[in-house]
Amino acid sequence: MSTKAFLKVEGLSKRYQPGQPPVFENINFSLEQGEFVCVIGHSGCGKSTILNVLAGLEEPSSGGVIMAGKETAGPSLDRGVVFQGHALMPWLTVEQNIAFAVKSRHPSWSRQQIAQHGARFIEMVGLTGAAQKKPAELSGGMKQRVGIARAFAVEPKMLLMDEPFGALDALTRGVIQDELVKICAATRQTVFMVTHDVDEAILLADKVMLMSNGPKARIAEIMINTLPRERTRETIHHDPQFYRIRNHLVDFLVRRSKTIQQGGEGVLGDQPLIVRPGLDETDPPPPDPQTQQPLRRIHAV
Ligand SMILES: Nc1ncnc2c1ncn2[C@@H]1O[C@H](COP(=O)(O)OP(=O)(O)O)[C@@H](O)[C@H]1O
Ligand SMILES: [Mg+2]
Repeated sequence: MSTKAFLKVEGLSKRYQPGQPPVFENINFSLEQGEFVCVIGHSGCGKSTILNVLAGLEEPSSGGVIMAGKETAGPSLDRGVVFQGHALMPWLTVEQNIAFAVKSRHPSWSRQQIAQHGARFIEMVGLTGAAQKKPAELSGGMKQRVGIARAFAVEPKMLLMDEPFGALDALTRGVIQDELVKICAATRQTVFMVTHDVDEAILLADKVMLMSNGPKARIAEIMINTLPRERTRETIHHDPQFYRIRNHLVDFLVRRSKTIQQGGEGVLGDQPLIVRPGLDETDPPPPDPQTQQPLRRIHAV
């Protein structure tokens, strides 16, 4: 693991009840600044718990989190969280909800500075026309977009999202996902997101962390998304890499997450395997022109 990583998680485990096996153990990974990382795994494997530990809302039983060289302790504006519920203040308009958050981050900013900054993010989620509305006047999708605009407007060092689109219908979810791709490209925000939607992970993430089932869940693999970063929902499936990546993730969820937990397959070392299934062609890869050795596309670190 690089010593210079922006976020470093080492030997993390969480046991809620004494005498019971830990929900997860020996979780190790690191994140670079500007990266978008998704975590997928079955319900109950501990995804939200990991996110809450990163947010400082939950204490780990062992291990630690180091962000930008400092051990994290408790919640902080450096780590913004978007939950499934939008948690907007009902008596404030869209604009005011966002201004409130921006002001808490930049107490010395003028009213105009705060409004201008907020307006940029309201525009990114396509809500300029609704800026003066209150949450009760908005649809579920619009509310969730306000939550996203607010989280990005605060520009935390790391943004944590726990299944933020889980409560939305598929169409709305798609539109917001596209907006999220654009915002991330424009802001280079570092994001850690939990999802159970494989297609969402492929669209958004640079890296997908695959968690085995709990108890004693582990991060078994880190899948590098080798699709070009400029991707959209409409065109992504035309890329031949897409189905290799998708099959890999689905196979993990339906089969390997279980067998790994039972210790049957792919016994895990301390560090997750790094895999690039998108580059795994059916034909064997061409030999390295220098050494004539086959190029290995899946390897451990
Ligand atoms: N506050 C808590 N007290 C006791 N057990 C908990 C608590 N929160 C979560 N758990 C248990 O820990 C496991 C992981 O939960 P969670 O992190 O919510 O999983 P996921 O988000 O992957 O669905 C589950 O078995 C859940 O019942
Ligand atoms: Mg959860």
